[in-house]
Amino acid sequence: MIPLPKGASDVATSFDDVVLTRRSIRGFKPDSVPKALIEEVIGLALRAPSSMNSQPWTLYVITGAPLDLIRAGNTERMLAGVPESREIRFGKPFSGQHRERQVGVAKQLFAAMGIERDDKARRQDWVLRGFRQFDAPVCIIVTFDRALADSDDSIFDCGAIANALVNAAWSRGLGAVINSQGIMQSPVVREHGRIGDDHVIVKSVALGWPDEEFPANAVISERRAVEEASVFVGFDDQGE
Ligand SMILES: Cc1cc2nc3c(=O)[nH]c(=O)nc-3n(C[C@H](O)[C@H](O)[C@H](O)COP(=O)(O)O)c2cc1C
Repeated sequence: MIPLPKGASDVATSFDDVVLTRRSIRGFKPDSVPKALIEEVIGLALRAPSSMNSQPWTLYVITGAPLDLIRAGNTERMLAGVPESREIRFGKPFSGQHRERQVGVAKQLFAAMGIERDDKARRQDWVLRGFRQFDAPVCIIVTFDRALADSDDSIFDCGAIANALVNAAWSRGLGAVINSQGIMQSPVVREHGRIGDDHVIVKSVALGWPDEEFPANAVISERRAVEEASVFVGFDDQGE
């Protein structure tokens, strides 16, 4: 297993180290995260660019009893078959190459966890972990100001800060996973997270100290090659 960062002294701090070693963390130690450290992480993430520097986001940082109520409410509603109620569009299920990549990382995670294809109970348990915010000690709900709801840039900007958050967390030895499952029952999150109606819920980020014994935390998801993910235009004219 690839060693995970443990403390401030031996964690990745250069940009390359952070982005090349970061991965989604879905198993956490029960230890709490000091508020001052979360503030430091958010301070870094707030350097994220945003449309015309609008900084449309508000981050709801939730722990303790309110987070436990969110976990319980999400689980109860999902098990009861309450339809999802996200506040941003999700679209149709993936197909083609996108579906292939979705299945690819799911296979990696299930293989790491030793969950067989036909093991319905453990697959269900895995899904429920997401609704419980992966039992992380902290959950950050990324929202934006409803006054900007008719601009897709607001959601784009929330993506920028979510990415900055997970990398900043990693640079301080914390682990995180951006998590759609956590906000699928948005009324529960809104109520217990005390989120005002003037904010639109976009995504949750589970945050805490990585559990080095949790097998899925070692999974390195695959990436497309630069040549496949990019189209270079006009470079032929410049020679090599
Ligand atoms: C918008 C978004 C939503 C995500 N939702 C979930 C989720 O609901 N459950 C989950 O386990 N991971 C979720 N992830 C994490 C992705 O699966 C993960 O980032 C991707 O597989 C790449 O792996 P890596 O983060 O380890 O590099 C989400 C990531 C993003 C950016």
